[in-house]
Amino acid sequence: MKGILVLAAVCAAVFTLSAEEYLLPAPQKKGGISLNEALNLRRTCRQYTAQTLSKEQISQIFWSAFGVNREDGKRTAPTARNRQEITLYLLTAKGAWIYEAKAGKMVSISNKDLRKFAGRFTAPAYIVIVTNKKLLDSTHFADIDTGYVSQNIYLACAGLKLGTCAIGRIPDSKALALELRLTDAERIQLTHSVGVPK
Ligand SMILES: Cc1cc2nc3c(=O)[nH]c(=O)nc-3n(C[C@H](O)[C@H](O)[C@H](O)COP(=O)(O)O)c2cc1C
Repeated sequence: MKGILVLAAVCAAVFTLSAEEYLLPAPQKKGGISLNEALNLRRTCRQYTAQTLSKEQISQIFWSAFGVNREDGKRTAPTARNRQEITLYLLTAKGAWIYEAKAGKMVSISNKDLRKFAGRFTAPAYIVIVTNKKLLDSTHFADIDTGYVSQNIYLACAGLKLGTCAIGRIPDSKALALELRLTDAERIQLTHSVGVPK
């Protein structure tokens, strides 16, 4: 009996995540539209409905963008010398989260709506792509690596019938960096608005 109680407590500790973080549903690694269809559908969209994204959609977009796709921890996007210097953040009306790819979870870092710092479109969600020069000391390669992740976001959105726009003209990256508690070594490269196209 005591053993069962101990086991139950351990399971509870392992499976109960605090409100500060949530596990994402497993992404689809098979099926979906074909690569050719996704390429044919890829486009920039700047107008969205107010519909929020589901956890399934969030999981699929982040996994496609820079998720783990192999046992050895390598990712859906290549990085120079496999430095994996990219971190992704999700911004919604409810707050900001950091994507922990290996654990497949989102960890809360703010309860504030930071979307206005990331882009000017009325979008239910924004993705922020951040690089860290402590992990890869070449802005040239970090810029290139960012491009792979951005294209993955475009293709994932095409596959989910969602709209997205890569945003280089970020309204206030200083304020965003501050709110996301980025270090001096970290740089906001690009953001993406995401939502259901109008
Ligand atoms: C690096 C990069 C930065 C961009 N920055 C912006 C931006 O700040 N604002 C915007 O409205 N679109 C931005 N775009 C989207 C481009 O304007 C868009 O990709 C281009 O017009 C071609 O349209 P398409 O994506 O539908 O083919 C950016 C795209 C890239 C790749």
